[in-house]
Amino acid sequence: MSITKSIMDTLYRDIQGYDLSFSARKKLQFHDKGLTYGEIVPESFYKILSQVNPQKDEVFYDLGSGTGKAVLAASLFFPFSKTVGVELLDDLYDASQQVLQRYQKEIIPRLNTSNSPEIKFFQADFLDFDFSDADVIFAHATCFHDGQLRELLHKFEKLKKGARLIIVSKEVDSHSYALTNTSEHPFSWGQATLHFYEKIV
Ligand SMILES: C[S@@+](CC[C@H](N)C(=O)[O-])C[C@H]1O[C@@H](n2cnc3c(N)ncnc32)[C@H](O)[C@@H]1O
Repeated sequence: MSITKSIMDTLYRDIQGYDLSFSARKKLQFHDKGLTYGEIVPESFYKILSQVNPQKDEVFYDLGSGTGKAVLAASLFFPFSKTVGVELLDDLYDASQQVLQRYQKEIIPRLNTSNSPEIKFFQADFLDFDFSDADVIFAHATCFHDGQLRELLHKFEKLKKGARLIIVSKEVDSHSYALTNTSEHPFSWGQATLHFYEKIV
């Protein structure tokens, strides 16, 4: 855990997610509360992901991935075969690509492993993105609109049985999903309630 924390600190040494989000939103012609920024805290994200018991070869998605902290942490902490971030804002997406390059150049050679899982970032609207191969989905959805959540729910219905959802601050109302846990965890902006679901059909 302390090694992973020091890797995350190294990777993000000069990346300021809040500033990047602010500058990207300033370029837009509209205000959208759904784009409000906030980040995971790596140590508590380990505890969060532990609750869904990630298995070897599973696929992780962060919907609205910001600078990519959750995606990198998921890959460092657990044996996912692929971790993917989808982020709409250009400056945040660019930062996640910069961090990924750093990770490949500075960290992977030091990890001394032949097995490096796939890490991918896309600049896209997650509502238009195909994440149907997901086993575990994280959505830091505190400021997402109800409409966004409704559209996400349609996409969640198409996931495989056994897929797990981790949703920050919001709930999912579907007969296809069982609520498996509710717990509180710290984030960059404060304490939030997380809802954990598993697809049962
Ligand atoms: C609260 S931040 C979470 C960042 C990251 N997941 C974390 O927890 O560290 C939510 C992110 O979702 C992004 N976002 C909001 N709506 C989006 C959409 N429709 N498609 C892609 N990204 C979106 C925002 O720009 C923001 O970076």
